[in-house]
Amino acid sequence: PTPVIMDVDTGIDDAFALMFAVRHPAIDLRAVTCVGGNTGVDQVLANTCYVLDAAGAGEIPLGRGAPQPLLAAPADAGRFHGSDGLGGFSRQSDRRIDRRSAVDLLRHELSSAVATGEPITLVATAPLTTIALLLRAHPEVAGGIERLVFMGGAAGPGNVTAVAEHNVFHDPEAAAITLAAARDLDIPVTMYGLEVFGQVLVDREQAARLRSHLDPACQLAGALIDARCTLLDVDAITIGDAGTVCAVADPDGLTTHRHPVRVDTGFGYSRGQTIVDRRESTVDRVRLPGFLAPTEVDVAEHVDARGYADLWL
Ligand code: BDR
Repeated sequence: PTPVIMDVDTGIDDAFALMFAVRHPAIDLRAVTCVGGNTGVDQVLANTCYVLDAAGAGEIPLGRGAPQPLLAAPADAGRFHGSDGLGGFSRQSDRRIDRRSAVDLLRHELSSAVATGEPITLVATAPLTTIALLLRAHPEVAGGIERLVFMGGAAGPGNVTAVAEHNVFHDPEAAAITLAAARDLDIPVTMYGLEVFGQVLVDREQAARLRSHLDPACQLAGALIDARCTLLDVDAITIGDAGTVCAVADPDGLTTHRHPVRVDTGFGYSRGQTIVDRRESTVDRVRLPGFLAPTEVDVAEHVDARGYADLWL
């Protein structure tokens, strides 16, 4: 199995991603770190504990990460995830939270990966605040990262603004720092953005089947699908963030193209946009200096939506 660490802001679709990561035999979930995003970081921790319990996860190191974006005020995603971030389903858990900060925990796990020569895939389904802090403070861990797969960004239309996607818009500075660090430290990056995010659908009928199962993870997954269908007044929803983990378990289901990407950290209307340079010819590209230089990113352009829905279910 592929060793994976997840950075989450649980969130209904982060819950889908976590449950899948715990259960799929191709994934070896080594640690989870929590960051403020869909809801405040302490609620994210509580939600993550509960979801890991429901999924039947053993003891997995679980770290508290950045409570708020590097610069901006946090944005609210209650409309999509409910006031507790989990559609009203969050419950108490006795799961232990690591005393180390998420950055220290990541540093420890990734340094061990450097030492053993077994690099870890970092899957981020949240704003990149903690990852940016990690790579700025401890660039030496880069050799322990096989690849960063992040849910965020868009090559076309955004969801928070006309051009910006929520996770990047929440902390554009962090996204820019993370991509710059990936460029400078040679960390391969996959951007699972809005072109594919909304494609992998599950519906109320499938939710009913999940709910009738004896397995608590299936019951929670079904209840969460229903909760989000009700929140959004629809009959089917995307598995969203869970697509990133499907992409690790079954990379053939995702088609990517490598493009130079930059993040707009300006304070105009396009703040938080991931500017994907899809020009075919490189002749016209002006070489941008220093911090303006883009990062080569594998941008997801097509997903086997039926395949990933079946895989996840
Ligand atoms: C992203 O924003 C969050 O609300 C979801 O969990 C997902 O990570 C989609 O833009």
